[in-house]
Amino acid sequence: MLCLATLSCSPKAESADPFTGAKWIGTSERVLYADYLPQFILSADIDIAPGSARASVLLGGNDPRLMNADLNILGVENGPDESYVRVELDREKKSVNVYRTGYTKADVPEKVFQSLAVADSLLADGSAKLTVQVTYNQLRISLGDVILGRVNVGPLGGSGDYIAYPQLADVGWLVDEGQTARVSNLEVREIRGPNALLYHIDGMTAAASGVKVLCEPSYGGMPVLRNSFKIKKKDIESATLYATARGIYEVSLNGEKVGADFLAPGLSQYNKHHYYQCYDVTKQLLKGKNEFLVSLAEGWWSGELTYGSGNRNYFGDQLAFLASLHVKYSDGSTQSVVTDPASWRVTTDGPVVYASLFQGQVTDAQRSLADAKWKPAEEMVLDGHVSDETFGQTAPRTDEYENWQLVPQEDPSPRVFTTLTAESVSEVRPGVYVYDMGQNFAGIPSITLRNLKAGQQVRFRYAEVLYPDLPEYQGNEGMLMLENIRGAMAQDLYIASREPVQCFEPHFTQHGYRYLEITGVDQAPALDDVKGLVISSVQGFTAHYESSNPLVNRLWDNIRWSMLGNFISIPTDCPQRNERMGWSGDLSVFSRTATYLSDVDAFLTRHTQAIRDVQMPDGRMPDVAPLGGAFGGLLWGSAGITVPYECYRQYGDTSILALNYEAMQRYMDLIAKKYIEKETGLMTQGNRGFGGLGDWLGPQNGQLDNSAIWDAYYIFDLQIMQEAATALGRNDDAAAYSQKLADRKKQFVDRYFDKATGRFIASGYRPTKPGQIIHIQSSYVLPLAFGIIEDEALRRKVMNNLVETILRPGVTDNGISCPPYSLMTGFITTAWISKALSDNGRSDMAYRLLQQTSYPSWLYPVTQGATTIWERLDSYTKERGFGGNNSMNSFNHYSFGAVGQWLMSRSLGIDRDPAMPGFKHFILRPEADPTGQMTWAKGWYDTPYGRIESGWKRSGGKVEYEFTIPEGCSATLRLPGMPEQELTAGRHLF
Ligand code: BGC
Repeated sequence: MLCLATLSCSPKAESADPFTGAKWIGTSERVLYADYLPQFILSADIDIAPGSARASVLLGGNDPRLMNADLNILGVENGPDESYVRVELDREKKSVNVYRTGYTKADVPEKVFQSLAVADSLLADGSAKLTVQVTYNQLRISLGDVILGRVNVGPLGGSGDYIAYPQLADVGWLVDEGQTARVSNLEVREIRGPNALLYHIDGMTAAASGVKVLCEPSYGGMPVLRNSFKIKKKDIESATLYATARGIYEVSLNGEKVGADFLAPGLSQYNKHHYYQCYDVTKQLLKGKNEFLVSLAEGWWSGELTYGSGNRNYFGDQLAFLASLHVKYSDGSTQSVVTDPASWRVTTDGPVVYASLFQGQVTDAQRSLADAKWKPAEEMVLDGHVSDETFGQTAPRTDEYENWQLVPQEDPSPRVFTTLTAESVSEVRPGVYVYDMGQNFAGIPSITLRNLKAGQQVRFRYAEVLYPDLPEYQGNEGMLMLENIRGAMAQDLYIASREPVQCFEPHFTQHGYRYLEITGVDQAPALDDVKGLVISSVQGFTAHYESSNPLVNRLWDNIRWSMLGNFISIPTDCPQRNERMGWSGDLSVFSRTATYLSDVDAFLTRHTQAIRDVQMPDGRMPDVAPLGGAFGGLLWGSAGITVPYECYRQYGDTSILALNYEAMQRYMDLIAKKYIEKETGLMTQGNRGFGGLGDWLGPQNGQLDNSAIWDAYYIFDLQIMQEAATALGRNDDAAAYSQKLADRKKQFVDRYFDKATGRFIASGYRPTKPGQIIHIQSSYVLPLAFGIIEDEALRRKVMNNLVETILRPGVTDNGISCPPYSLMTGFITTAWISKALSDNGRSDMAYRLLQQTSYPSWLYPVTQGATTIWERLDSYTKERGFGGNNSMNSFNHYSFGAVGQWLMSRSLGIDRDPAMPGFKHFILRPEADPTGQMTWAKGWYDTPYGRIESGWKRSGGKVEYEFTIPEGCSATLRLPGMPEQELTAGRHLF
C-alpha cells in the first residue's frame, strides 16, 4: 500500500558521492514470460533424414488471446495446440514455408501462408540452422547466415503499428507423418544485441516421424533483493537512503514503501546521466533489526521503449540496484548500509512474475517472499550486457559510457496525483465487465478483489475508447478498442491467493486508459473497489481558466489531463501505445502552455539535459530524447532551443539558458551550414527529397510548402538566440544573431510572398511547384505569429489572406469538406494561429476558432466526449468512428492543447513582459471576446510571488475587468480604449 507521508529529502543534501562502497547488485537469472514477448529471435537446428524433405519449428502457440473470443477482434477461439505459426524447411521444394494456424478464421493449417525460396547451396548438407527473428508482426527468416526474406503474419497488419501477433508464447517442433527429421537446440534470444539467451531446449533427442510438440518456455520472476541489518540502539538524528536502479525499483523498509515515487529512477539517457533518488527514512528506521526489500523491473532500461523494431534492451539486458543508507546518530557517530553482494540476497520467486511498461504486469499472489528461495546477490556489470545497436541510424550509442555521471534527481518524480473511482460498469459480454473511470488518464489501477479462489486468474485490460455501434465494428460494440495501442498489450494478470480480500495494484507497469475490462471474476467488483491511481510528474497546477463557455472549460481540463498523462519522468507524445517517447516537436509547441500550467522548470531542465545528451556530434538536435535520432528535422529539433527559452521567459531562469546555450549554438551553426541550400538559399534541411516532418497531421499538408514552415522556425530560433545571447551577456553573439535574423526575415519575405497580394508563393520545394500560390491557413500562420513581415502594408495583406482562408470553407487532403472557421492546421501551425490573429488585431477570429464545434476544431473532440486532447482533431467521430485510423490514433496527445497559452496570455491577458523575464513585472492585456459569444472569463496564474488573478465580464455594451496582483509584483495594463498604465499589488476593478 502507498505511504504518501514519507518525504523525500533534498538530493542536494549531500554533495559528495553518496554511494562510496556500494555496488550494483542483482541477479544474472533471467525471467521469460512468453505470452508477453512480441520481439525475439528463435532458432533451431534442423536435420532431415535422407529420403525425407520437411520439418518445422513452431512459435506463437497457444496464445491466450487466440483461445478466447473475448480477447481478440478476429473472432477466433482455439482449443489447445490449435493456434501457432509454423516455419517449415522443405528441402524438396527448396523453400521455407510459413503456415499460420488459428490466428484468423480463414487460416488453414495445411495451407502455406507464404514461401521463401532457398538456394541450392544452402541445402548442400542435411543439417541447417533455421532462425526466425520476430519483430512484432514480421518474421525475418534465415537459413544459416543467409536471410531468406520477411513474412508478415500479423492478421491486422505488419509492423509495430498493429496489435502484435505472434507473441513468443509456446514454441516447439513438428515433423509430419511419413517424414523423418530431428529439430534440436531450440533457442530463444533477446532481439537486441548482445542477444542474451532467454531459453534453450534440446528438442528432439533423435530423428522421428509424426511429432508435434508445443511447450511453454516461461520461467522465473522479477528480482527482489533483501537485506537485514542492525541499527544501534541509540537516538537517530537522520537516516537518508540514496538509491537508483538499472530498470525501475521500489524499496520497502520494514514492510513500508519508502517514499511516494513511482517508476524511479525514471527515464534518462542512462549512459550519460543516470539519476538517483534520495529519501528521508529517519521515521521508518527501527532501533535494532531492520529489513530492506527491493523490487526491480525492466522499466525503460531493458524493457520496451519506442515503436521501433527491436525496441527492447536499449540500455542493457540486466537489472541492477544501487543504494546506500546513511545513518547519523545524535551522538555524532554514523553508520552506513550499502548494496554489496556479500550481505544482500536475491530471489526471482516473488509474486511479480513479470512486469513491462508496455505489456503489463503479471502477479501471482500465491507466490510469497516468505517461501522464496533466496540466493546471494551478484554484482552486476555492464560489460557484455549493453547493445552496440542504436535506435535507428541517427541515434547515438547507448554503450558509450565515457561521460557517464550518476547524478541526484532534482525534478519531481512521478507520484500519485489523484485517485479516480470507476463511474459505471457494464457487462458487455457474459463475464466481461467494462468499467468507465470517467476520465482518460495515465497510471495504474488499484482494485480490491473479494472472495476469489486460490489460483483464480483475473485479467485486466485497458483502453482509451470502446468500439462504437457502427457497422464496421459489428460484433465488437462496447468492447475495448485496443488497435490504437498497437504493439503494447497493456494487460495485467492477477493470480489470486486464498485471502478473502486482495488488492491488485501493479507498480511496475503503466497504462493510458479510461476503460478497464475485468474478466475471470465470478462477479463484477463494486465500483468503489475499482480505483485508478493517476500518476504524473506534475504534482500541482499553477494556472486556471474558466469561462461562460462550458465546452472551452472542458477543453482547458482536457489540456491539463493530457499534460498530467504525458509528463511522466519525461514529456511524452502519448502514454498508452507502443511509443511513449520524448518527441521534441510535440514538446516544442506545448512547452509554453506547460510552463503556465505547472512549475515545470526542474522537469524541463532535466529534459534539456536528455536533449543535450543525445545531440549529435555535428550539432543536430534530436527529434526524440532520450535515445535520440529519428527523422523530424528542424521543427522537432528546435525543442532544444524553444524549451530552454520558454522556461527562461516564464520563470526568469537564465541558468537553463546558460546550460543549453552552447548546444543551441552548435545546432544553429548546423542549420546555417547544412540545412540551407548553398546555391538557392532555400531551406531544404539538406534534402530535396524528404527534409523532415512538416505541419504534422495537418489536414491540408499535401499542399503545404514545408521549406517555408522550416524557414519560419529557423527565424524563430534566431530570434530566441538573439534574446538568449543578450540575456547571457554575450553581446557579440547577440549582434551576429540579430543580423542573421534581419537577413533571413528579408529573404523569407522576398521568397514566399507576392508583394502585390500578400499571397504565399511556393518555393518549389517538394511537393509544390515554384511560383504556385498556396492559399491555405498554414502558409500564413508562422510568418504572422513570429513577426517575420516587417513591412506593415504587406503584413496587412498577408493577414487578410489568413483571414480569408479562415472565412472560406476548406477541403482536407482526403476530401472532407470543412465549414468556415475550421482549423485547417497541423501540430505546428495550430499552436500559433491564435497568436497570429491576436497579434494582428483579430482576436475576434481567434475566439471564433476557439469556440467552433464542427470538425476540425479544438472543441469538436469535446463535443464527441473527449476528456483529454486527441492526436487528431477527428480521432473519433460519431459518424465515421475512427475514420480508418484505428492504429495511429492516440486519445491523449497534448500537442493540439498548445492553445492553452493563448487562453492564459490573451484571453485572460496574463502575459510575460518581453523586457523582464519571469512575472515580477508582467503585461496584463485581457481581451474580452469581441464576438460576444463568450461573455466572461476568469482565472489565475501562481507565480513565485503569489497568485495573479484576471477576469472580464461583458454586460450590456460594457466590459468589466477585475485583477489581483500579488505583493511584490507589478503589471503594465493594456485595455482597449484606455491609455497604458502601471498597476501595483492589490485588487483592481475597471
Ligand atoms: C508521435 C508524434 C510525433 C511523431 C513524429 C508520432 O508517432 O506520436 O506525436 O511527433 O510521431 O513523427
